[in-house]
Amino acid sequence: MVQETHLTASNLIWPIFVIEGENRTEPIGTMPGVNRMSVDLAVKAAQHAVKLGVGAIAIFPVTPQDKKSEDGRHAVDSNNLICQATRAIREATEDKIGIVCDVALDPYTSHGQDGILIDGYVANDETVQILCDQSVNQAKAGATIIAPSDMMDGRIGAIRDALDAYGFQHVGIMSYAAKYASAFYGPFRDAVGSAKNLASGDKKSYQMNPANSDEAIREVALDIQEGADMVMVKPGMPYLDIVRRLKDSFEIPIAAYQVSGEYAMLKFAAQANALNERAVVMESMMAFRRAGASAILTYFAMDVASWLSE
Ligand code: PBG
Repeated sequence: MVQETHLTASNLIWPIFVIEGENRTEPIGTMPGVNRMSVDLAVKAAQHAVKLGVGAIAIFPVTPQDKKSEDGRHAVDSNNLICQATRAIREATEDKIGIVCDVALDPYTSHGQDGILIDGYVANDETVQILCDQSVNQAKAGATIIAPSDMMDGRIGAIRDALDAYGFQHVGIMSYAAKYASAFYGPFRDAVGSAKNLASGDKKSYQMNPANSDEAIREVALDIQEGADMVMVKPGMPYLDIVRRLKDSFEIPIAAYQVSGEYAMLKFAAQANALNERAVVMESMMAFRRAGASAILTYFAMDVASWLSE
């Protein structure tokens, strides 16, 4: 009666990694329990997620190295892996689950950066142009939510205009608005195979300094003004103070991303019998909700949803 916060499966967004081929899965060494899967298996997984009431699925493609290039142009190929997966999942799930497509060039660039390099720097405005094309490409494939994770300035307004111009007024934008240059993304870069491309590079010229909190307010204010429907904080648990500050400052749904490194911490600790997996995962979910997150992106989404259904 007096519990202040609740969690349902509809709060969850499940990130998945998609590979080429058929009936194929590949384990990810740094993320035990998470498998990359081919499109046919991703469709089955999405149907299962619908049954469990999961709110949305977020698709991340593993691009073969020979399709990566300096300018990441495979991002705008209507037959790339994310478009194939999006089309197949949209058709099989009949609008019963949200389909989130990430917008950034890192799955497609030979250098692993989220944008185009000019003189060794990611060039903001040139990148925004391609991100607009990438967004429209993914909307055409059936994305219901476009999620720019690139952190370029001005991209939300530009993407909104581009989507509207192509008749995608109904496609929402979930902006990775407060995305920090974090070491917690390590396992994700293994999972999508961008770690080797990025090598010793970092993303500090466009992702945020973990020391900053006021800057998150500025970033989010800009994205809301430009037309974001939802804003994200990422990583999650180490940044719950940011979630709460945003919740107190803006009337907009907030998403928080329990990223790959957070998943790895909980999973490896549980495997070593240092933590009770189910208990800590459910506690972490409630912590996200208590801090003010409407949506939680988590690799535990299917476990959480099935625990909730017991
Ligand atoms: C790509 C992107 C990243 C993540 C989501 N989209 C990695 C990065 O910015 O390098 C990280 C997710 C995770 O660690 O689980 N722009």
